[in-house]
Amino acid sequence: MIAFPGGEPAPEERPVLVLDFGGQYSQLIARRVREARVYSELVSHRLGAEELRRRNPSALILSGGPASVYAEGAPLADPGIFELGVPTLGICYGMQLMARELGGTVEANDVSEYGKADVELDGSAALFHDLATEQVVWMSHRDSVTAAPAGARVTASSETTPIAAFEDPGRGLYGVQFHPEVVHTPQGQRMLESFLYDVAGTPPAWTPAAVIEEQVARIRAQVGSERVICGLSGGVDSAVAALLVHKAVGDQLTCVFVDHGLLRENEAEQVVETFGHHFHVPLVHVDARDRFLTRLEGVSEPEEKRAIVGEEFIRVFEEEARRLGDVRFLVQGTLYSDVIESGGDVGVAAKIKSHHNVGGLPADMSMELVEPLRALFKDEVRRVGEQLGLPERMVWRHPFPGPGLAIRIIGNVTQERLAILRAADAVLLEEVRRAGRYRELWQCFAVLPAIRSVGVQGDERTYAYPIVIRAVTSEDAMTADWARLPYDLLDTISSRIVNEVPGVNRVALDLSSKPPATIEWE
Ligand code: XMP
Repeated sequence: MIAFPGGEPAPEERPVLVLDFGGQYSQLIARRVREARVYSELVSHRLGAEELRRRNPSALILSGGPASVYAEGAPLADPGIFELGVPTLGICYGMQLMARELGGTVEANDVSEYGKADVELDGSAALFHDLATEQVVWMSHRDSVTAAPAGARVTASSETTPIAAFEDPGRGLYGVQFHPEVVHTPQGQRMLESFLYDVAGTPPAWTPAAVIEEQVARIRAQVGSERVICGLSGGVDSAVAALLVHKAVGDQLTCVFVDHGLLRENEAEQVVETFGHHFHVPLVHVDARDRFLTRLEGVSEPEEKRAIVGEEFIRVFEEEARRLGDVRFLVQGTLYSDVIESGGDVGVAAKIKSHHNVGGLPADMSMELVEPLRALFKDEVRRVGEQLGLPERMVWRHPFPGPGLAIRIIGNVTQERLAILRAADAVLLEEVRRAGRYRELWQCFAVLPAIRSVGVQGDERTYAYPIVIRAVTSEDAMTADWARLPYDLLDTISSRIVNEVPGVNRVALDLSSKPPATIEWE
């Protein structure tokens, strides 16, 4: 580790700002910068030079984008940003924009170039100094820079793209036509790191420990000596948010865990054990299992189940909050991806997807929000969780829907059917973990359909439920593919479930991707 002298600004005070010109990889650029342990945020390309200066960035990166820089309505940058004296890297469209603004030229090619390309790098260039001169990079463009900006020199070229990169170190300006942020550019991360560390002089200081320190200080400043409440769901986001707040203000925090009876096996116990006993966080454990089950009685329509669980959750939570008396702050596990989705940097906060609220907490509770995960992507939340000592199981837990098992039991939710699903799901997860496959899956769970079928066990004819195995891989839950689990593993799972779970005589595997199916069955 590099040691940094005291008095350095916190990494978040000198962000690398990624100006978003609408490219599909804009968010990925910010993530790659963060992987280099430099704090980065995605901001609108509309931010003016003055506004950017106020953010005190250590570097700017102009993203790619689908437009042509000369097209009417093409997203442009305030030309003043190139006079800020802040090291700036333009990627693809961002590079073309620099060329356009700074006296170069950009022209349309006859055909677009898409895919891997061989480029020849200038080994003396700042971005490429420690790399082999022959490199494979990922290209995705129709226009090309045909003359570099005045004063810049060309530092990479390919057969089809003679100006594949340029630099003007005197002015701190760098451009690459290809995409260093995607994995198809094998040395791309090193190029970004050269830009960050060598050109912009930003240290790799944004570590989980630094995030914790920064957030703890912020929470203290926000909360003062007031009381805070946090709903725990068993998921990683609310757990990490709660631990950060607890670290900051100790017992001014009370966590409320509403057990709606729709969790998987042992999950409720794990929350109580981890928070109440291990971390000594003041915890109110509300056993509301009967209450939810009563309200779900006879309900089989999925959206109705969702609405009931959501409403009831809010009611229970509000009752507990009222019981606690004078609480001014509510912790919410809003993530950076939610912030970006709901409008990015400008006037955010407004629209957070309802199921991203911890357990779907009410929007109109008259409490101020504490959002310690607002700057973090999911994988960063996990790393912070690890650093805080959260158990591995909670840190790496698959996403789990707020309505829980209620939407994995097709049709009526009853005590008996919950017990069947919970037992089958526990076997499934145990075997998947044992086979070392858990982390490569996005989600993996059992579904209990509303049909029964005939079977024979021992000498007896049975008429019992099937269990469906649903295991998917995915990046973001928007699309998903069914996971190719090994036959041997599926065989073990199937025989264990039919042998160990009373009421089940058949196991089926869901072979559908999303779309057209969804991940959940309801
Ligand atoms: P689908 O089934 O739409 O799910 O492919 C996409 C992702 O969202 C989760 N999901 C939910 N999460 N409340 C939640 O908190 C819900 O009502 C809900 N429905 C689906 C699902 O588990 C998957 O990760």
